[in-house]
Amino acid sequence: MSYKKIKIAIDGYSSCGKSTLAKDLAKHLNYLFVDSGSMYRAISLFTLNRNLIKNNKINKESLLKSLHNINISFKIDTKTKSPQIILNGKNVNDEIRTPKVADIVSKVAEIPEVRKKLVKEQRKIGKNGGIVMDGRDIGSIVFPDSELKLFVTADIDVRVNRRFKDLKSKNIEISKKEVKMNLVERDLRDSNRKTSPLKQTKDAILIDNTLLSRKEQLDVVLNLIKSKKLI
Ligand code: DC
Repeated sequence: MSYKKIKIAIDGYSSCGKSTLAKDLAKHLNYLFVDSGSMYRAISLFTLNRNLIKNNKINKESLLKSLHNINISFKIDTKTKSPQIILNGKNVNDEIRTPKVADIVSKVAEIPEVRKKLVKEQRKIGKNGGIVMDGRDIGSIVFPDSELKLFVTADIDVRVNRRFKDLKSKNIEISKKEVKMNLVERDLRDSNRKTSPLKQTKDAILIDNTLLSRKEQLDVVLNLIKSKKLI
């Protein structure tokens, strides 16, 4: 069967299951899956490792001077078949998920030069289609021409529980209250920043997965693709 290789853009709030949906769709369609948030997290990790943040304030000038030294790429894990993010030659897939990184990533993502660098790389990765990318500005900025745009949301307490469980499974000590504070703060920053804020574009389809299982969420989107004859 010959498929048209389309671009699927998935945007939405923190911890609402965007990456899970993107991963499931990519697996089903045999597409590339890119979690663009992991790229912002990688630059945040670089910022922390180079001590470019003091008292919660990023040393923007030094970070910008170092931007050209930041090399981000993806490598497919042969066992799990999932993409691993590589920062300057090192696999940082687990390190980018710590609360320390989550605490600063929205601040790093506000910096226009950081966004410019990553948008350029994301467009390069997706130029041939056959890609599912999730993030905050994929439908609006990275791939405004994508054939399918989804805006995912879920009830805040459901999102907190999902993230809490996820962090616990990685043995990360954190309270539900802390998780909630981080999600609420990030959503606020991501939605109100000057450069490419998170927003639902007019042509994006809203998916509220509060009451949906992982399989149900995937089926909703696969049915959409079928009914719209996208591939
Ligand atoms: O998807 P995530 O929670 O791992 O993303 C981490 C942060 O990165 C998020 O709070 C905002 C930022 N981000 C962004 O600004 N634009 C994107 N396309 C993806 C993520």
